[in-house]
This record gives sequence, C-alpha cells and structure tokens, in this order.
Amino acid sequence: MKKVITYGTFDMLHQGHLNILKRAKALGDYLIVGVTSDDFDSRRGKINVQQSMIERVEGVKETGLADQIVIEEYEGQKIDDINRFGVDIFAIGSDWKGKFDYLSEFCKVVYLERTKGISSTKIRSQNNHLKLGLIGKAKRLWKIANEAVSINGIDIVGTSGAGYDRRLKKLNNYSFDQLIEKVDAVFIESDVKDRYEQIKYALERGKHVLCDLPMTIGRRQQHELLEIAKKNECILMSGIKTAYSTAYYRLLLMVKSGEIGDILSVETTCTSLNEISKIKKYQKNDIWSAMDAWGATALMPIFQILGTDYVYNTIISKKIDDYFDIFTKMDFVYKNAVATIKIGKGVKSEGEMIISGTKGYVYVPAPWWKTDYFEIRYEDQNKNKRFFYELEGEGFKYELVNFLRAINHGRTLSYTGNDVLEEISNVYDEFYNSDDISLI
Ligand code: CTP
Repeated sequence: MKKVITYGTFDMLHQGHLNILKRAKALGDYLIVGVTSDDFDSRRGKINVQQSMIERVEGVKETGLADQIVIEEYEGQKIDDINRFGVDIFAIGSDWKGKFDYLSEFCKVVYLERTKGISSTKIRSQNNHLKLGLIGKAKRLWKIANEAVSINGIDIVGTSGAGYDRRLKKLNNYSFDQLIEKVDAVFIESDVKDRYEQIKYALERGKHVLCDLPMTIGRRQQHELLEIAKKNECILMSGIKTAYSTAYYRLLLMVKSGEIGDILSVETTCTSLNEISKIKKYQKNDIWSAMDAWGATALMPIFQILGTDYVYNTIISKKIDDYFDIFTKMDFVYKNAVATIKIGKGVKSEGEMIISGTKGYVYVPAPWWKTDYFEIRYEDQNKNKRFFYELEGEGFKYELVNFLRAINHGRTLSYTGNDVLEEISNVYDEFYNSDDISLI
C-alpha cells in the first residue's frame, strides 16, 4: 500500500484545498492529512486563522478524502510522521516549491500545482473587511496601527485626537463624530475621563468598541455601557493586550485548574519611569499618572483569579500637585486570600507577578504584562516547570484578531468577564472620588 501525507491549516476549506487533497490522494492508496494546531500556527506567525482546530479538522473530514488525520504540533514533526506511519510520498502545493526538499531523505517529495485565484487569506479578507478607527493620542495609537497592518480583514480608516504625528502620517485624522460615521468599529485609548462618553456615542450608533481599561470611572457607567452594547448587538471588549497573550491565558488556566493548589495571594507590580520634571511640564495633556497608566492592568489578574468579592480594600498613594499619583499601592482582603498591586509612574520597581498557592507558586518575570514566559515553582526545585509562548510584537495583534473574531461570531471570547470590567471601574471610582485614601 502506497501512503501519501500532506499538511496544511485548511482554514475555511475552499476549492484549492479540495483540489490538492484529491491530487494527493491520487498519488497513492492511503492519504494522511496533517492539520496544524492553533498553537503551531500562532508560533509560526499565522495568527489570523478564523476556525478552531476542531472546525478545521471537521472540514477536512467532511471531504471524505482523508483516510487518517493527524495534528501537526511542532517543528520537525513531518520527519517523525513520515517515519512513524511508513509514508511513501510527501505532497504539498507548489507555493512551497523547494522548501521541503530536505524530506527526500525520508520519502519521495512531490510539489502539486496550486489552484490559482483562491486562498484562505483571500476569503478571510473578503469576508470581514472591518473598517477600524483609532481614538486617542498618537503616542499610544501608533503601536496598534503598526501591528494592525499585517492583519488581513482590518482596514484602518483614520484616527481622532492623534493630531499630526510622523508615525501616523499615512492615516487621516478626523474629528470624533466624523470618524465614528466612517467606521464599523473603534479602538479607544484616550484619556480615562473621556472614554465613557466616547464609548456610549459609538455604541449608540451601532459601532463595535475595543477599549483600554478602565472604560469608565464607576461601576454603574460600565454596566450601562455593557447593556447598550447588548441592546445594539455590538461587541464591547477589553483592550488590555496582556489578556490576549497565549502565555497569560495559559497561566490563568493552569492556576484555575489547581496546579499550585489553593490561591492565597496575588501580587502584581507595574511601573515606568518618567522624570517628575517631565511630568510637570506635560502633565495636562500627555502623561498618564500611575493609576491611569497601570491601574487596570495590575488589577486585572487579581479579579480574574480571586474574583471580585473581596471583603475590604485599602489604598495608599503618593501624589504630586494633588491629583497626579506617582505611586499607588492597593491591598484587597478576601475571605481566604489577599492581593496587592503596586503601580508607579516616576517610581521604578521590579515589574513581576507572583501568585502563591498551597502547592507552589507562579512567577512571571518583568515585564509580566508582556508575558511570553512564566515558571511554576515548587518546594522541590526539580519539579519546577518553565513555559514559553511566542509573543509577536507587543501583543496588539492578538487583541485585534480576537476582536475581529468576536465581531464575526457575535460574541466576546474573553476571560475578562463583565464582573471584572465593572469591578475595575469601581476601584477607579473609589480612587478618584472617595476620601478613604491614605496619602504619603
Ligand atoms: N493550496 C492549493 N491551492 C490553493 C490554496 C492552497 O493547492 N489555492 C494548498 C497549499 O499549497 C497547501 C494546502 O493547500 O498544500 C493547504 O494550504 P493552506 O495553507 O491551509 O491554505 P491557503 O489557502 O494557502 O492558506 P493561507 O492563505 O492562510 O496561507
């Protein structure tokens, strides 16, 4: 029996896929199809795949052409598969010509003609051309504009509030109302106090919103926005990029599945150093205080891991000019656990996250909010485990791809639940509007 093997992502199965599977099958008697795992695809930079691995496997199965389906999970697996299954022929589309010649040491390599005029990339970009507007200061928007370029299916229409900036020179700058009219969705990273009105305006006009946290100052306002989004069938999603990195997401799953036992403590630190003199000079328009820059990021894992039902909290802040906090420390006391955040702007510390449990602890080195690596450490060091997951750029891509998917599927696939969003807004309300804050 002659065995043939071929590989692919097979996202949104199309005629080109059908043709290649037929051609590959015709080369022998038994066809093995390797479908890439989501992880493998994202590690090799293919992050905009629309269907899950299960859906893609189903697609291949339904063609009735595969005698066996395997999942491709790691670099070098093709050699393993060929040896393991006793494969005679490796077949792949002509777009890969020459790339797999090294396999001829193990079996015959055949490049089959690629079907012209069709690809998953093309279907993806035809299906969901999302017109996206960016709202906020140029300094914060150019990174996202930069990473969005490589995502097919997203067109950046322009910015609002960014003014003229060399880094964004290819984009048009509109007034807020003008921009909202031109787009299907907006990314908002404006000043914290402006966000509520902006989000409300956009949602009421049926636009999807991806917004940095906090979205509002106050629980009631956040709740109201979520309700408007629901009523208007719009996606309103958290724009904290950390939440969408694979490493962070895996870390949450491990912690929740009891890998380090019961959680007793979560500590997060986020700081950046701006000279105070600089802050004074530009404070009115450009520089965010510790709370506005870091508060939501530092709070997010605490509420995701321990929930929002703490018994009480305390806030200590060091402010300049009465309102600009350069350092803030918050403690949250739960029935069975505690949590602490330390955030600084103009104060520097080790930006790490530590989650302590009854069996071990998770250590995420600085800067933990750009997580691509973490360790699970135990009393017996030999049992320590290290985890690494590729993070391309600063992670905005993953956030945008998730936003696009949420819009296409009509629901948010996120672990930042509504209760977490509301609690974060609530803490900001307390920070800005309550007298119960100690100053140092
Ligand atoms: N293929 C083909 N003809 C096409 C598209 C794909 O013969 N028009 C082949 C590829 O050469 C490969 C297999 O189908 O051998 C799986 O390719 P895959 O990467 O999943 O499909 P693409 O449509 O090329 O996906 P993308 O646009 O995401 O790269």
